Amino acid sequence: ENAQLKDIISHAKEYGFVFPSSEIYDGLQAVYDYGQMGVELKNNLKNLWWKSMTQLHQNVVGIDASIFMHPLTWKASGHIDSFNDPMIDNKDSKKRYRADVLIEEKAAQYEADGHYDKASELLVEMGKLLGAEELDAVRDLIIRENIKCPISGTTNWTEVRQFNLMFSTQVGSVAEDSSTIYLRPETAQGIFVNFLNVQKTGRMKVPFGIAQIGKAFRNEIVARQFIFRMREFEQMEMQFFVRPGTEMEWYNTWKENRKKWHEAIGIPADSLRYHDHEKLAHYANAAVDIEFKFPFGFKEVEGIHSRTDFDLTQHQELSRKKLQYFDNDLNEEGKPYGNYIPYVVETSVGADRLFLMTLCSAYTVEEITEGEQTKTRTFLKLHPALAPVKAAILPLTKKDGLPEKATEIFDSLKYDFKTIYEERDSIGKRYTRQDLIGTPFCIAVDHQTLEDNTVTVRDRDSREQVRMPISELHSYIDKAVNF
Ligand code: GAP
Repeated sequence: ENAQLKDIISHAKEYGFVFPSSEIYDGLQAVYDYGQMGVELKNNLKNLWWKSMTQLHQNVVGIDASIFMHPLTWKASGHIDSFNDPMIDNKDSKKRYRADVLIEEKAAQYEADGHYDKASELLVEMGKLLGAEELDAVRDLIIRENIKCPISGTTNWTEVRQFNLMFSTQVGSVAEDSSTIYLRPETAQGIFVNFLNVQKTGRMKVPFGIAQIGKAFRNEIVARQFIFRMREFEQMEMQFFVRPGTEMEWYNTWKENRKKWHEAIGIPADSLRYHDHEKLAHYANAAVDIEFKFPFGFKEVEGIHSRTDFDLTQHQELSRKKLQYFDNDLNEEGKPYGNYIPYVVETSVGADRLFLMTLCSAYTVEEITEGEQTKTRTFLKLHPALAPVKAAILPLTKKDGLPEKATEIFDSLKYDFKTIYEERDSIGKRYTRQDLIGTPFCIAVDHQTLEDNTVTVRDRDSREQVRMPISELHSYIDKAVNF
C-alpha cells in the first residue's frame, strides 16, 4: 500500500471516519466499522444516490429486500455454479492469491514499463482461459510469465482452483430440518424476485427501474486496500426493466448518467474513466466499469451491466411462476407488443467504494504561508452536500454571553443541518479540527455579534472570512448544501 493511501487510512481512523472491525481483538480482515464522522458521510452519499434515483426519476422506485433469500435464488442466478474466483496458493509462503489478480498485476507492470501490447495480449489470453475454465493453462501462464509470490519471491505455485465467494449458514435450530442458505453476494436478486410485485402494485410501465441499498457479502480471497475490497459491504443497485431490443440504448443512457452523477458530487472528470469489460460476468452481454484514480491506480467504483433477460428467465424456470410483463403499447404494425420477459440494465455501485473515492478525492494537503511561516494544512475538500458537519458554531471566548449567543444560533440551525457547537481550545485549533473533518463553514461568534447580530463565516477551502447577519446564515448554508 502506498504512502498516500496510508495517510488516508490513518486520517480516516484518527478523525472518526473508519475503524477496523473489532479492533480490540486486533481486527477482522476486510471488515470495517464507520465512526461518528464516517456514518454521516456514508449516509449523505446513500441519500444523494437514493434521491437521484427515486426522486429525480419518476419511473424508478425503491425497495428494501432481506439479506436471506430462498436458496433456489442463487441456483437460478448462477451464483452457486459460477460465482467463483480462481485461487492459487504459494507453497513456500502458504499464502493464497487470486490467479487473475496476479496476472492483472503483471499486465499493469508491463503497462508501466511502456509495453502496452504485451499488457493487453496478456489480459486477453487470461480472459479466454478463464472463460473456458482452462485452469491448468492459467497456472501455466503464471509460470510462463515468471510471476513471483509477493511474500516468498518464489514461483512454487499449486494448481488453480475455483473458489465460491458466497458465505453460507444454516437456518433452523435442529440439525434435521436445517438447510443451507446464503448471505446475498449482491442485492440485485432481491429486486428480480420482487419484479412483478412492484410492477403490479405500483402500476409500473416498462421502461421502469427498482432501486435498493443494502448489505452484500463475499468471501473475498484477496482482501486489501482498506475498504476497497471488503467481505461485508454495501451496494446501491438499480435494475432498469426495458423492452427487448432497446437495452443497448438504455445501457448507454445509464452509462452516461452515472458518470455525470459522480462528477456532480464533486469528483473531477479527469479522475474518472470508463473501462469496457473484455471478460463478461455470467449474466451480462455488455458491461462497463466507471473507474476512479485511486492512490493505487484506476479501479472500479461502479458497474453498468446489460443483463439481458437472464435473471428473470432463470427465476421463471426455477420458481415455475410466470415473470412476464404485458406491454399494451402498440408496435409499428399497430398491435400491442404483448407478453414478454423484460431485459435488464443494471447500475451497481458500492457505497464503501464510493466513500473511499470521495475521501481520496477530498483529502488535500496544501502549503500555506502565515506571516513569515510556511506550513502544511490538511483538510477534506468535500462537497458541502457530503460533508459530515455543515457548520461549526464557535464562540470566541467562554464568557461575556458569547456561549449563550452561539447556542442560540446552533439551535436555530440544528433542525435543518448537522452542526457542531464547540467552545474548547483556541479559535485557530478549532478551525483546524473542522478542516480535518471537512466542515465547509465555521461560524465565529464574537463581541461584535452581541452588538449588531453579525458573525464571521470562514470558508474551509479559501480560509476567507466574511461578515454576515445571523438572519442570512440559514439560506447561505442551504444554498451550498443543496444542488
Ligand atoms: N449486481 C452486480 C454486481 O454485484 P459487481 O461488479 O460484482 O456487480 C458491483 O459489484 C459493485 O459493488 C462494484 O463496482 C463495487 O463498487 C462493489 N463491490 C463489489 N465487491 C465489493 C467488495 N468486496 N468490497 C466493496 N465493494 C464491492
